Amino acid sequence: MVRYLHFFSLSFYIFFLILQGGPISISDDAVTALSVVEETCKKAADMDPNLTYKFCVTSLQAIPRSHCANLRGLGLIAMKLSRTNATHTKLYIKKIMKKKKKLEPFYRSCLESCLELYSNAIYSTRDAIKYYKSRSYLEANVQFSAVMDAPSTCEDGFKEKEGLRSPLTKKNNDLFQLTALVLSIIEMLR
Ligand SMILES: *[C@@H]1O[C@H](CO)[C@@H](O)[C@H](O)[C@H]1NC(C)=O
Ligand SMILES: *[C@@H]1O[C@H](CO)[C@@H](O)[C@H](O)[C@H]1NC(C)=O
Repeated sequence: MVRYLHFFSLSFYIFFLILQGGPISISDDAVTALSVVEETCKKAADMDPNLTYKFCVTSLQAIPRSHCANLRGLGLIAMKLSRTNATHTKLYIKKIMKKKKKLEPFYRSCLESCLELYSNAIYSTRDAIKYYKSRSYLEANVQFSAVMDAPSTCEDGFKEKEGLRSPLTKKNNDLFQLTALVLSIIEMLR
């Protein structure tokens, strides 16, 4: 069985080499059909309706390393993207709070709670990455589920008062989708 698998992956590898640079010309479609990013995104979007295929592919393909990563590598890339994303959004929230000194109190309290949620989420992404690297997928899943709660809880806060608009809707949605992607990949690896 093992030998068979080795043989299989070897022939697959050779096939891939031919696709990549071989003398045989093959249409772009054939190469695309084998892209790990696209295959992973298709599966992930099927697994989780909260994640769109387009968002997944766009996010991962923006990272050059993703082009030669396997599923496990893509998981790590998605986790790091989530961490960077959360860090940027945290800084953005701080900026809004600084720029406008006189914020309506309820609005300010929403932003404060988002700031705290995002700070905690960043810690969770760090822990999750450690667990993931040591293949403790269950723990990584627990940590990332906590990360996923941050953007949705933050967004919901603004809905509690009529007429209030969240300045973070897109950013919350981005992190939400990135975490959905991470959780789907962890699920595929388990
Ligand atoms: C999609 O997101 C909602 C929360 O907004 C959550 O309740 C639901 O479980 C998510 N779906 C999946 C498949 O994770
Ligand atoms: C978060 O990630 C998404 C998708 O990769 C990206 O489009 C967006 O610009 C990022 N936002 C921040 C604040 O880094």
